[in-house]
Amino acid sequence: MFSRGNNVTINIRLLLYFGVKAMKTLIVYAGRHGCTQKCAEMLAARAPGGITLANLQKCQADPSGYDTVIIGGSIRMGKIQKETAAFCRAYHSQLLEKKVGLFLCCANTNAVESQLQAAFPAELLAAARAVEHLGYAYYFQKMNFLERAVVKKIAGVSRTVENISQAGVDRLCAALYGEQSAG
Ligand SMILES: Cc1cc2nc3c(=O)[nH]c(=O)nc-3n(C[C@H](O)[C@H](O)[C@H](O)COP(=O)(O)O)c2cc1C
Repeated sequence: MFSRGNNVTINIRLLLYFGVKAMKTLIVYAGRHGCTQKCAEMLAARAPGGITLANLQKCQADPSGYDTVIIGGSIRMGKIQKETAAFCRAYHSQLLEKKVGLFLCCANTNAVESQLQAAFPAELLAAARAVEHLGYAYYFQKMNFLERAVVKKIAGVSRTVENISQAGVDRLCAALYGEQSAG
């Protein structure tokens, strides 16, 4: 037999369980060589509830019906991918009413702030629950000749480097989900 106290505890646990289950997150991203995709997958692994992961270069995504939306992109020649920018523009007012997290992959650590400002609309940056620079990667085997030459000349790098911030992923999830983010 359960006492009333036990029933209340069980009901609260059920509510929490189904509350988390019912929570829905859309993670949209666009990138060139896979760093942004890897970050999006790391976020998906930490996020609670139902997750939809969408590469905007391969499919359309609509934030309707999601409580939380995470938007990511990488910087090339000072610019974020056009697909990420177009998503922010297309769903601007809807996004302002949701729990939003933004992330950026870029290698110029001196220009993170200015590149973030250029990449995302100011209102969205101000309204977002979390904005994170998640690091960068140079995957040399995936680059063409010109890209290798640019990276060698500008960054002085001539081999594959991966510098993704797990701490940034953790911070973004903590800001969006608190204790519900999976450890
Ligand atoms: C051709 C090229 C241009 C880049 N331009 C910039 C840049 O202007 N600013 C910056 O901070 N990083 C720049 N990067 C670094 C990328 O942002 C970084 O490698 C990022 O992790 C790429 O992610 P992705 O593979 O998902 O596109 C550039 C990288 C390449 C290959």
